[in-house]
Amino acid sequence: MSQFQLNGRPVSVEAEDDTPLLWAIRDDLKLTGTKFGCGIGFCGACTVHLNGRAIRSCITPVGAVAGQHVTTIEGLQPAGQHPLQKAWVAAQAPQCGYCQPGQIMQAATLLADFPNPTDAQIDAVMAGSLCRCMAYVRIRKAIRLAAA
Ligand code: FES
Repeated sequence: MSQFQLNGRPVSVEAEDDTPLLWAIRDDLKLTGTKFGCGIGFCGACTVHLNGRAIRSCITPVGAVAGQHVTTIEGLQPAGQHPLQKAWVAAQAPQCGYCQPGQIMQAATLLADFPNPTDAQIDAVMAGSLCRCMAYVRIRKAIRLAAA
């Protein structure tokens, strides 16, 4: 059993310690905003925050987050929409939408480090967040809107 904080609330899951955090979040805790893409830490669809920093939940054992703070897309903004979520809508960033929760979680870390990021900083930090629809131009536009 692992106990940790999820979106500001204490949770416990019965899963084995080596169960990927992604499955604890989706299957045990029923928050399905975090997506499965590759399962090997390559695509970024499963990105959540651990103590405020983006991590890949598919390669993070749930036992490794015991006692720590995990945030999913559902908890990024406790009330209303996060500025990134508003910008995503304004820029019409998603196409199919599947990768977007992970993109937004990664972008939140980007803006924490670089409040007014350059295109090079955006590209460097977002490079590991893949979009099969190739919506990268609109994603970059949304990040710029949120930073403004
Ligand atoms: Fe975790 Fe692809 S599903 S990085």
